[in-house]
Amino acid sequence: MKNVFPFSSSLMTDILAWTRNRILGGQDPTHGAQSFAALEPVLGGSITAEGIGGAAAFDLFKDVIVPSTRPFGHPTSLSYVASAPSQAALSFDAALGAAGIFAGNWDGGAGAIHAENQALSWLADLAGWGDTAGGVFVAGGTLGNLCALHAARDWKSRQGPRPQRWAVLCSGEAHSSIRAAASVMDVDVIEVTPDETGRISGQAARDVWQPNVFAIVANAGATNCGAVDDISGLADLAEEHDLWLHIDGAYGLAAIADPQTRPVFAGIDRAHSLIVDPHKWLFAPYDSCALVYRNAADAANAHGQSAVYLDAVDKTHWNPSDYALHLTRRARGLPFWYSLATHGTTAYGEAIATTIATAQKIADGIDQMEGLELLLGPQLSVVLFRPKDMSEQMMEEWAEENRRSGALLCLPTTWHGQKVFRLCIVNPDTDAKDVLETLKTLT
Ligand SMILES: Cc1ncc(COP(=O)(O)O)c(C=O)c1O
Repeated sequence: MKNVFPFSSSLMTDILAWTRNRILGGQDPTHGAQSFAALEPVLGGSITAEGIGGAAAFDLFKDVIVPSTRPFGHPTSLSYVASAPSQAALSFDAALGAAGIFAGNWDGGAGAIHAENQALSWLADLAGWGDTAGGVFVAGGTLGNLCALHAARDWKSRQGPRPQRWAVLCSGEAHSSIRAAASVMDVDVIEVTPDETGRISGQAARDVWQPNVFAIVANAGATNCGAVDDISGLADLAEEHDLWLHIDGAYGLAAIADPQTRPVFAGIDRAHSLIVDPHKWLFAPYDSCALVYRNAADAANAHGQSAVYLDAVDKTHWNPSDYALHLTRRARGLPFWYSLATHGTTAYGEAIATTIATAQKIADGIDQMEGLELLLGPQLSVVLFRPKDMSEQMMEEWAEENRRSGALLCLPTTWHGQKVFRLCIVNPDTDAKDVLETLKTLT
C-alpha cells in the first residue's frame, strides 16, 4: 500500500511500550505545569518544514510534554475533580485511537455507537428511565449542560408563548458552566440560596420561581461542597409549571452506582435530562460526559442537523449527532464502556463505595486532629476543613510545597467567605492513612 507518511515500525513498538509502561506504572505525582519561559526554548521549534522526525518528537512528548502536566490520575490528587481511569479503560483508549472510528452517525460507527449506548442505558436504568431514554457522550460536563439546556428551551418553546427573556433556575452552588451555558443561550439565571450544606430545597426554589423559567438545574454533587439538591422537591416544582428538570451530576452522579448512596438521588426518575462525566468518578480517561435524556426524541428536535450532503445518512438508526451540538465525534464513550464491560457494574459500585468510605475516614481523622477543624462532609466524597492557626498565605505555601513534592494535591477554596481546604476523592486507590499523615503537618 502506498504510504505518503512512512513511519518506522520499531518506533511504533517504542510508543506502544511507553504506553504500556505508563499504564502499569501510573503517573508521577511530582510532575506539574512549567512556565512558558521554560517550555518555549524546548518545544518552540518543533514545527519545521522538514519535520524533526518521529523519534525526536516522541522524546519531546515523554521528556518534556508529559512531565509538564498535572498528574490528576494519581491517588494523591485530591483537588478540583480529579480522574482515576482504570487500566482497562486506558489500554483500550489506545486501541480506540488506532481504530479511527467516526461515531457521529450510525453509518460511520454503528458497532461503536451500539456499545456506547449500552453504557448510556446502564445510566438511564439507574435513573429509573424507560425505553424512550437515550443520549450521547460529549466532551465534558460544560458542553453536556449547554446541550441539555438547549434541548430544554426548545422543548419549552414548543409549549406556548415565549417570554421576553427566558430564565434558568439553579442553586447558588451550581457549577460555573451553568452560567456559561446561560450566557451562550442569552438567558437569565435565577439563583436559589442554598442552605448551610450547599443544598437547595424545592421550597427555596419555589420562593424565587418566576414565570419565564424554562428549566431547573439540580446539583447531584455540587463541585465545591458535594451537595445533592432536593431532587424530589425540585421535580414537584418542575411538574407544577411544566418545566424541564436537568440534573448536573458531572462529578457526583457516579455515586448512583453505589446501592447504599443511590437514595440521595431520589426523584431523579422524574428529571428530563442528566449528565455525568465518566472522566471524573467513573474510571474512564478524558474526555467524556454522558448526556442522557429521559425522552431522547425531545433532544433530537433541538439538536438534529440537516444539510443536503447529509441526505444520504440513514435516519432510521441512532445518530449521536442528533443529541448534542456536534457532528463529527470520536466514540469517546467506548473506554468507559470497555471498563464497565470488563469489570462489571458491581465492581463499579464497590469502587465508588470505597472512595466514599475513604472520604469518611479522612473526615473522621481531620475531626480528631487537634489544630484542624472539619467544616463539612463528607458530602459524597468532598470534605472541607481548615487549619485553626494558619494564615491564608501559609495555607497557600503548604499546598504548593505538598504539590511540588508529590505528597498531596490539596488546594484551598472559599466556603462561606472563608479560605478553607477542599478534598475531593474519586480514586479508590487513595489511602486515607497517607493523606492524614500529610495533613498532620498542618497542625
Ligand atoms: C457539577 C459540575 N458540573 C459541570 C462541570 C464541568 O465539567 P467539565 O469540566 O467536564 O466541562 C463540573 C466540573 O468539575 C462539575 O463539577
